[in-house]
Amino acid sequence: MRTRAAVLHEAPGNWHVEELELDEPKSGELLVEMVASGLCHSDDHYLQGDNTVSRLPLVGGHEGAGIVRRIGPDVIGFDIGDHVLTSFIPACGRCRWCASGKQNLCDNGAIIQVGHQIDGTYRMHTEDGRDVSTLALLGTFSQWQVYDQMSLIKIDKDIPLEVACLVTCGVQTGFGSATTAGEVQPGDVVIVAGVGGVGMNAVQGARECGAAHIIAVDPIEAKRDWSVEFGATEAFATLADCAGRIAELTNGQGADVVILTPSLVTNEIIAEGFAAIRKAGTVVVTGVSNESEEGQVPGINAFMLAMMQKRIQGALYGMKSPREAMPMLLDLYRAGNLKLDELITRTYRLDQINEATEDLRAGRNIRGVIVFNTQSASTPEETK
Ligand SMILES: NC(=O)c1ccc[n+]([C@@H]2O[C@H](COP(=O)([O-])OP(=O)(O)OC[C@H]3O[C@@H](n4cnc5c(N)ncnc54)[C@H](O)[C@@H]3O)[C@@H](O)[C@H]2O)c1
Ligand SMILES: [Zn+2]
Ligand SMILES: [Zn+2]
Repeated sequence: MRTRAAVLHEAPGNWHVEELELDEPKSGELLVEMVASGLCHSDDHYLQGDNTVSRLPLVGGHEGAGIVRRIGPDVIGFDIGDHVLTSFIPACGRCRWCASGKQNLCDNGAIIQVGHQIDGTYRMHTEDGRDVSTLALLGTFSQWQVYDQMSLIKIDKDIPLEVACLVTCGVQTGFGSATTAGEVQPGDVVIVAGVGGVGMNAVQGARECGAAHIIAVDPIEAKRDWSVEFGATEAFATLADCAGRIAELTNGQGADVVILTPSLVTNEIIAEGFAAIRKAGTVVVTGVSNESEEGQVPGINAFMLAMMQKRIQGALYGMKSPREAMPMLLDLYRAGNLKLDELITRTYRLDQINEATEDLRAGRNIRGVIVFNTQSASTPEETK
């Protein structure tokens, strides 16, 4: 069948919305009609060339929600019409990591930057017959998409998919960065540096944990203002600007937890975060850096790391298992304890994706969401 998708042909570059050929779902795969996909800064890292897959062209997008329309052989636990969310880590449920409740570290994570499906072949092809990679085995910027069952999470149908899609990356990642990676405790002083689609949910996570002070840091004034609506108690433009206030709040000791969720992580910001925490404090590194950036994280004194018993904690997917975390986050939303609707600043059509990307870079949105033209008329025959 044919689908319309946002394709990256060269990096740095822009999305080209074009028609692609999409294969039938193979063993363990499902055809999904997409309803919505959020734009995460990780998508932009591929446009900018900070991160890459092994070959272009690439269909981007990983914060998706849709409806199962066709089921390939050997699929267990899904029905036609199911509402599903995408997981950017395809979790097998069987490897050591999945078996120990750490699905975010599933061994299949090793192939998310490669571009092809689990079996080494591609489901998407250009009109002239070239194979097309998909981001994280997903590629949610496509009206229709074929996913491995390991990448899909079935959810209840009561929550609109335009809203539910947000929990698949930004919300799980940010929330877990505070609750699980940062282990924020009641009464803590927490700094969240970068309050976009991910960081705003670190603010919400810290609030759920009972942090006494949540200091949002972002150079963009609108983000600082929004952060207060999500639970930040104060907001500053830079980490340096909040240093005096942190000293005042902690008797000079430093913050309990600093969560780094800026657009792009650099060694310098890790060092700044390290300097801002107290003894036995934690710096959570969630934001992505340019993957070619090497080095020893200059500015971090190894003696102080040991003697002050500080912790630098990398965090993938908020250190939470997608199949456990996403339904839990939707439960919190239903109970009125997690803001999701308010995260959506603007929705776009797929053909407006470059405008949406511009708005992401300019910091105009908390989250921009692509809403697809989901038409039951275009639904293929629903057969197993
Ligand atoms: N570890 C993971 O599993 C994971 C998952 C998703 C996203 N990410 C990464 O998290 C980061 C944030 O993603 P997002 O979608 O929220 O991006 P976003 O663009 O929505 O938000 C980033 C925010 O950081 C702010 N910022 C930029 N430089 C800053 C600085 N020096 N100090 C403080 N704030 C600064 C920007 O103004 C913006 O508001 C990206 O690097 C993304 O790739 C990581
Ligand atoms: Zn993401
Ligand atoms: Zn696994």
